[in-house]
Amino acid sequence: MHTFKGRDLLTLAELTPDEVAHVLDVAEEPADKRPEFEGASAALIFMKPSLRTRVSFEAGCVQLGIHPIVMGPHDAFSRHETVHDTVKVLERYVELIVLRTFAHSHVEEVAEHASVPVINALTDEYHPCQGLADLLTIRQHKGALQGLKLAYVGDGNNMAHTYLIAGALAGIDVSIASPAGYEPQASVVEQARAIAARYGTGSTLQLLGDPAAAVSGADVVVTDTWASMGQEEEHARRLQDFAGYSVDEELMSRADPSAIFMHCLPAHRGEEVADEVIDSAASVVFDEAENRLHAQRAWISLVL
Ligand code: CP
Ligand code: NVA
Repeated sequence: MHTFKGRDLLTLAELTPDEVAHVLDVAEEPADKRPEFEGASAALIFMKPSLRTRVSFEAGCVQLGIHPIVMGPHDAFSRHETVHDTVKVLERYVELIVLRTFAHSHVEEVAEHASVPVINALTDEYHPCQGLADLLTIRQHKGALQGLKLAYVGDGNNMAHTYLIAGALAGIDVSIASPAGYEPQASVVEQARAIAARYGTGSTLQLLGDPAAAVSGADVVVTDTWASMGQEEEHARRLQDFAGYSVDEELMSRADPSAIFMHCLPAHRGEEVADEVIDSAASVVFDEAENRLHAQRAWISLVL
């Protein structure tokens, strides 16, 4: 029996492999209105831009009969109001807090004070909602997760961290190829290895410099932007540092012939991915975007 009621989703590492599988199962269920949620509201707070996360959370809440209240950086955590005071006010109005922000410690602090469940809608370090949607997408296209190889090519950012943890939980082997200086945080790699060992999922994690070696024989090839939100002024520098890390047809040809290509989007065509790959039959990026809706709706219905 799984117990999700009241729980936070901050990194994905708070879930067991069984719980992840259960969330994915619930995500495959029809999107029915839930009479028990009538009168409930959710605060969706975005300190950074968003298309998919904002719209999928808003639409998912409506599907469940929950009223979504979307806020930007001028609404919450503004005017020098403390995190504590902001949360103590919000929880008098809403049954759920969803937050996209910069420092991961911000969402942790919100969760620490909140008596209602908190969902991380992306921090500089983790993007667990994307992780759930991506596992759902891989399972739909590959039939199962255990024993697959996922290759991530690019920046060792919040998405790389999320694949390390998601892979460890799901028994997926994860190979990451990043330029020197852009590797995932060592602490997250250790955390992922500890998860794989704790649950005996069999997942192996490899950090490499060479994209071709990482992609060799992969079932899933993934990339993400080279300059994440908050790093806009590093864009020109990063274009140089990531030369040779584009996912193009030549790199995809190293993967398994039935490999799928994934990207959480927004994509920067001609930078981390070539048109010929993102527009190819192997690309499942729009299924992946759709699955944000189903995975988040599943999580909300379980924690409320
Ligand atoms: N993938 C994703 O989180 O997209 P947005 O930044 O548009 O929400
Ligand atoms: N790494 C990207 C993901 C966007 C969904 C960023 O943080 O901007």
